[in-house]
Amino acid sequence: MVVNQAPHLALRLPLRHTAGPIEGRSTVRNSPASQYDGPPDFRVVGRHAVFPETSHDEIERINFLAQMNRHLSARVVPGVKAAFDSRVAPAFEARHGRPLADRHETRRALLADPAFQTWSALRRLTMEQRQQAGRWTVIRQRERLAEIAARLTDGDERLKLDPDLAIPRYVSAVDHHCMPGSYHREYFPGDVTNGANYDHAGFVTTGGLLGRYSDGGGHAVARWVKRNLPDFQPKDILEIGGTVGHSTLPLAEAFPDAQMTVVDLGAPMLRYALARAKSLNVHNVRFVQASGEDLSQFPDASFDWIQTTMFLHELSTVALRNIFAETRRLLRPGGIVLHVEQPQYAPDMPLFEQAMRDWDAFYNNEPFWSRMHEMDLDAAMIAAGFSPESLIHGGVTGVVDKEIFPDAADDETEDYGRKAAWHVIGAVA
Ligand SMILES: C[S@@+](CC[C@H](N)C(=O)[O-])C[C@H]1O[C@@H](n2cnc3c(N)ncnc32)[C@H](O)[C@@H]1O
Repeated sequence: MVVNQAPHLALRLPLRHTAGPIEGRSTVRNSPASQYDGPPDFRVVGRHAVFPETSHDEIERINFLAQMNRHLSARVVPGVKAAFDSRVAPAFEARHGRPLADRHETRRALLADPAFQTWSALRRLTMEQRQQAGRWTVIRQRERLAEIAARLTDGDERLKLDPDLAIPRYVSAVDHHCMPGSYHREYFPGDVTNGANYDHAGFVTTGGLLGRYSDGGGHAVARWVKRNLPDFQPKDILEIGGTVGHSTLPLAEAFPDAQMTVVDLGAPMLRYALARAKSLNVHNVRFVQASGEDLSQFPDASFDWIQTTMFLHELSTVALRNIFAETRRLLRPGGIVLHVEQPQYAPDMPLFEQAMRDWDAFYNNEPFWSRMHEMDLDAAMIAAGFSPESLIHGGVTGVVDKEIFPDAADDETEDYGRKAAWHVIGAVA
């Protein structure tokens, strides 16, 4: 893999904990993770005008599922690892006369083991329940939420929807992470159901580790840019795949003189996102329904900074290449593109970790996860027209709101794909 960077930018940062040793059960009990008691009560989340109301029972359901996820990662995964080391890998070697060779073979070997089967089934069920729990909370109040969103967004030029936009098959054919209707499905005109579900019940998955507004990723990126590019003063920032704006608003707030544009395929996400942004008093963002593969409505060299956050893994390979090409076209000279993602499957990542991270591709409706995480992203950036010398590499860790989640910052539990520690791959135009 080519590893280059603009020489004037000290951009290679240490990446915290991506491929370290995996804790065994007793280690977990005595490790720093034991300082962290798990997710806080859901009621500490930050609210805004379009945030759904939750009843006593709905809150308890979310709390139960968040605790269940935590239990699975902190207490059950170490058992899967122990089973892999003591049973699965030795049995494979005894049978084949050689060790496991790659993550696919490793996953197939794990599939036959009861520890993996138990963890995998429970994780899938927890995800299915999370989606249904969040969805029913929103469905019972979706007309009211749509009315609030309409009051906040009707006639506002910062929301530009395109009812004729064709949703590409790599999105329309998939209920991403078991989310019915994914990001784009509208149940009635003006609907925000799937945006509201994504926003409030995502707590089950993050366990609060992304902060009270689920924006710890955005804060981490803003800090990273300020620290590593202190003189960078972007005027126009584009985020592709911004969803409801979790990672967007921290950038808009960090650069209040900049104009931010978010593009996304999903109208319910974008309506909800503008209403949420206005309610949270962030006004320098506009939301445009478009595909990142075709941003021809924006002329060449329109932006100083293009950002994607936890986005690339949901793209087909062709779409990823098209989007990389668009970012190259749209950047002004000296502008930057940054993609923040879970780490790639580097050769030094243990096969067990690779197989566990691949779980999302096979059992959580993320069909492109596996292929994307094995791609040579440097080569893809160079193919899109960025020079090898201009490539940027780094790592960011989600910023936790310590006032609300005092213990979460100490959580060292490995969760293979859920942990708020990401790679940054980017380039300077
Ligand atoms: C995993 S979410 C991104 C999360 C978000 N960036 C955040 O930090 O909260 C992926 C988003 O990308 C959008 N998306 C997928 N393909 C797209 C495309 N070709 N163009 C624009 N948006 C796209 C989806 O609609 C969805 O909202």
